[in-house]
Amino acid sequence: MSSSMADVSSGIPAWAKISDRRRSHIERVAVLLRDWAGRLDVDGHELDRWLRGAYLHDTLKDAPEDELRRLAGPLFDHPQLLHGPAAAEMARAHGEQDQGVLDAIRYHSVGYAGWNQTGRMLYLADYLEPGRRMPVTQRAERVARVPASPAAVLREVAQERIIVALSSGKPLLEQTVAFWNALV
Ligand SMILES: [Fe+2]
Ligand SMILES: [Fe+2]
Repeated sequence: MSSSMADVSSGIPAWAKISDRRRSHIERVAVLLRDWAGRLDVDGHELDRWLRGAYLHDTLKDAPEDELRRLAGPLFDHPQLLHGPAAAEMARAHGEQDQGVLDAIRYHSVGYAGWNQTGRMLYLADYLEPGRRMPVTQRAERVARVPASPAAVLREVAQERIIVALSSGKPLLEQTVAFWNALV
């Protein structure tokens, strides 16, 4: 137990295994969530949950695969999907007890039908942060629409991500299918 939750929500934890590039992505996700929280007038506790999700979700993105597999367990098999469940387990081991935050981290790459606002906002910010390749005007328009219409933008983003997954010929995970069905 190296830090309190207050420490975690104020930044990337010491147990992170990430490149500088990934660190910058995480910071941009946090900035976007702070911005939306201000526009939505959410309370400090809710913002704190969003930021814990942001700072923890990719903290093991660049950890060795065997370490990720050991932490993640059998939930997902694809190497790129292990860092979410692995980070959720590490977050839990370091004192994170909020189920909404843990689910946000665990399923951030695939979607989850049982998400509360924390998981949904993290999924949006992870995709819409300005480091992602996307036409500038399309991104700005979506980012601006999130506070008034989070559900509509969430559907668009989920649809786009699922289309990319389908185009690549990959199978859709049951969590992703259930997530989509919960949105429409
Ligand atoms: Fe990720
Ligand atoms: Fe991310």
